Amino acid sequence: MQKISVTPIHKSLDYPIIIGANLYDFTAWLPKQAFQQIVIITDQVVKVYYGLQLQKCFRQGGYNSLLFSFPAGEKFKSYKTKQMIEHSMQLHRCHRDTLIIALGGGVVGDLAGFIAASYLRGVPYIQIPTSLLAMVDSSVGGKTGINTIHGKNLIGVIYQPLSVIIDINLLKTLSKKNRINGLIEAIKIFLIFDAESFYYAESHLESLIQGDNCLLKEVIFRAVKIKAAVVSRDEKEQGERLVLNFGHTLGHALEKISNYSLLHGYAVAYGLLVEVTISYLLGLLDRKSLLDIKNMFRRLGICGKNLQRYSQIELIQATKMDKKNRSRKVYYTLLRKIGSPYISYDNYVHPVTDQLVRQAIKKTIED
Ligand SMILES: NC(=O)c1ccc[n+]([C@@H]2O[C@H](COP(=O)([O-])OP(=O)(O)OC[C@H]3O[C@@H](n4cnc5c(N)ncnc54)[C@H](O)[C@@H]3O)[C@@H](O)[C@H]2O)c1
Repeated sequence: MQKISVTPIHKSLDYPIIIGANLYDFTAWLPKQAFQQIVIITDQVVKVYYGLQLQKCFRQGGYNSLLFSFPAGEKFKSYKTKQMIEHSMQLHRCHRDTLIIALGGGVVGDLAGFIAASYLRGVPYIQIPTSLLAMVDSSVGGKTGINTIHGKNLIGVIYQPLSVIIDINLLKTLSKKNRINGLIEAIKIFLIFDAESFYYAESHLESLIQGDNCLLKEVIFRAVKIKAAVVSRDEKEQGERLVLNFGHTLGHALEKISNYSLLHGYAVAYGLLVEVTISYLLGLLDRKSLLDIKNMFRRLGICGKNLQRYSQIELIQATKMDKKNRSRKVYYTLLRKIGSPYISYDNYVHPVTDQLVRQAIKKTIED
C-alpha cells in the first residue's frame, strides 16, 4: 500500500490518498461513532459492479447505509441529478453526521463532492474513484461541480474530501476506451510536470492500454504524487494549479459542442493537440517535442484530422465561457518543453487570439 498526502497551505486540512487498499477492508477503518448515516452516491453501472456490495459491507459493519444512483454519463452531472439526490437525502432525514461516499468515475466524484460541499452547508465525504481518469486526476484536489447548458463545470466549489481510497482492482471491469480516457489525463499531468514519466508512459503505452495492473498502478502513483503536490501549493487555483487545465480550454468546448458524446479524456486529447500546436506556432515548443506528443496520441488512436468533424465557429464560440477567461479574453496553458509549462512573469495561463487558435486547429487537422 502506498500513501500520499495533500496538505493545502491555506487550510488546516491534510488528507491521505491511499493507493492499493482493498475497498471492502476499508469499511472497517471508519470511526463508527462519528457517522450516523453513510450515503453512497454512484452511477448505475458502478452500482451493479461495486455499489451494492459496498453497501452490504457497511451494513454488516453496523452502519446505516443508503445508496443513491443515477444514470452513467456526463449529461447527468447536472442540477437535476444534484437536486434529486439531495431531495432523497432529506426524505431519509440525513443530518450533519452523514458521511458521503463518492463511488465512481469523475462524474460521480464531482457531483457527489458538490453535494457534500453544500448539503447542510457541508458534510464530510470520501472519494473512492473507480475509473482510471478519476484515480489519476479527478478524485484528488477537491474540485467539485456540475455542468450547465452554458458549459462544463460552471457551477461548483473546491471542497476537499476526508480521504481518497484508490483500489486498483476496481479497474478490472473498466473498458479499454475508458482506460485510454484516463491515460490521457495522466499524460497531460506528465506533459506539464514530468518529462521522465511522459517517456515512461510512452515506452509502456501498449501494455498500459491493455490494462497491465502493475504499470497502471505506477502511472497512478506518479500522477497523483504530482497532482497532490500542486494542489498543496495552490489549492484555490490562483496560480500554478491553473496549468493542470492544459488541453481543457478547447477540450471543454469540444465536449460541449459534441453534446458530451466525446468522453472527457478524448476531448482533452484533441484540446492538447491544438494547444501544443499553439505553443509550437508561438515558437515556445520545438518541433521534435511536437512530433513526440502527436505520435504518442496517434498510438492512443487520437488523430488531429478527426477535428474536422466539428464546426470551428462553434468550437471557438464555446471557449468564450471558459472559467479561466478574463476581460473577454480566452486563456490557455502553453507548453515550453515536455515536462514544463510556459510561465511568463508569474502568469500560468495566457490569452490567445481566435485567429491563432483557428490557425492551430487547421495545422492540427492537416499534420
Ligand atoms: N474534479 C477534477 O479535478 C476533475 C479532473 C478531471 C476530470 N474531471 C471530470 O471527470 C469527469 C470524467 O470522468 P470519467 O471519465 O471517470 O467519467 P465517468 O464518471 O462518466 O466514468 C466513465 C464511465 O466508466 C464507467 N465506470 C467507472 N468506473 C468503472 C469501473 N470500475 N468498471 C466499469 N465501468 C466503470 C462509468 O459508469 C461511466 O460509464 C468529467 O466530468 C470531468 O469534468 C474532474
